[in-house]
Amino acid sequence: MPESKHENIQYIVKQLASCLQLVKMYSCSHPRAQEEISSLYDKMRVALGTQSEIEIGFIKDEVFYQNQIFFDLSLRLKDFLKEFENRTLSVLRIKRGLTKEELERFLIILSDKNISLKGDDFSQYLKKKGIIHIETDKIRSKNAPQEEKLVSSPAFREQLVFYLNQYQKSLATLEGAFGDFFSKQSQGEEWRAMAESIVTQDNMQLNFLSAIGSLKKHDDYTFVHCLNVALLTNLQARGLGLEGENLLQVTLGGLLHDIGKIYISKYLLNRKSEISAAEFERIKSHAIEGAKLLIQRGGFGKIVPLIAFQHHRHFKIGGGYPRSRFLRPPNFLSRLVTIADVYDALRSRRPYKSEVLVEQIYQIMVNEKGRLFDPVLLDRFFTLIGVWPLGTIVKLNNNYIGMVVAQNPPLIKQPQVEICYDAGYNRLAHSYIVDLSSSEDIYIKRSLHPQGEGEKFIREVLKVKSE
Ligand SMILES: [Fe+2]
Ligand SMILES: [Fe+2]
Repeated sequence: MPESKHENIQYIVKQLASCLQLVKMYSCSHPRAQEEISSLYDKMRVALGTQSEIEIGFIKDEVFYQNQIFFDLSLRLKDFLKEFENRTLSVLRIKRGLTKEELERFLIILSDKNISLKGDDFSQYLKKKGIIHIETDKIRSKNAPQEEKLVSSPAFREQLVFYLNQYQKSLATLEGAFGDFFSKQSQGEEWRAMAESIVTQDNMQLNFLSAIGSLKKHDDYTFVHCLNVALLTNLQARGLGLEGENLLQVTLGGLLHDIGKIYISKYLLNRKSEISAAEFERIKSHAIEGAKLLIQRGGFGKIVPLIAFQHHRHFKIGGGYPRSRFLRPPNFLSRLVTIADVYDALRSRRPYKSEVLVEQIYQIMVNEKGRLFDPVLLDRFFTLIGVWPLGTIVKLNNNYIGMVVAQNPPLIKQPQVEICYDAGYNRLAHSYIVDLSSSEDIYIKRSLHPQGEGEKFIREVLKVKSE
């Protein structure tokens, strides 16, 4: 018999899935289905004796209860979770007072292929059918960074400068932690503290820090990259409603995803010339080596090594590396890190590659939707960060130049831009903000790379005093 509250809830979720399966296979009135439903109903009633409601969350193929992920359930409940995903639902709330008839009606509706209602429409339909003690909700947007907007431009610049400094400090800490990785035995706590400093940022701060990843140059790409991946992963995870330990774990996974590279020479990692097949294999080994190292060191739990192991695996089963005999896409937390990893690798300037503009990165990544990346998570990522992230220097179709100062989600291509230069590259005496979501004829033509053409604009714009 399950003992803890969490185990009880796990049991209820599993049984709910099997009841749905039985109703689909036979009918609700079939003796086998009836037996299982009665047993499920009893367990729900017991659980509702000590709490007024049971709220279960779903994100993609994972099940949550009180912000803890039931990793063991995800594979077993695939079909059940699909029913929720297809209806764009992510919360199931079972309330005290539930009757067995309501539960049966709910299972019948959920199993009925002809009822294709989604989101709020589905929730309303349940009420119409008299089901008032089972509620469903759309994907949560609680804590989603897009809810906050930046408006005042001098304030924006001040904040950007402030966060650039903060970013620099984080980088220095990270550099120290990497240096210590070999020399000390127990590292778990230090890294946790580092991840915590990201987790405790508020959403606005995080949005800034994620955006400025490409503005800072640093001699050692690895540190910058790890910090950026942690920030971008954290941003996505928060947008999905992750909190507490799960948020910390996935952030830590972002920080340490490439830790296996400490075994590979910097010379090889930074080489301009082409690398041989054998050298490429050597680089590829960082995924396995990183996971092994994290397991050996201890203190990093299960998720962090798993992320290190899976971050180069493709969403489409069988692609990427290391190869795996499991016919399953990577864990969804690893999929978040993969998106952050590729995005940051593309936006940074490396010795062996030419500059890629953010709008090109967007196109490259969208082309890989469904193959390299989870399509839903990729869309959500760009909704958060926009095609042109905060701080990007952009040229409009009228050739004026400005800096992106706010996003207008979900309009990922129409941010708010502070115009600072005219078409002849002359600095304007007074800058002004254009909201591209409400100016039909004005749009962004292209961006200016922050470490190339755009660098001098960033430097000048950020030096400006408030008007
Ligand atoms: Fe990697
Ligand atoms: Fe990476």
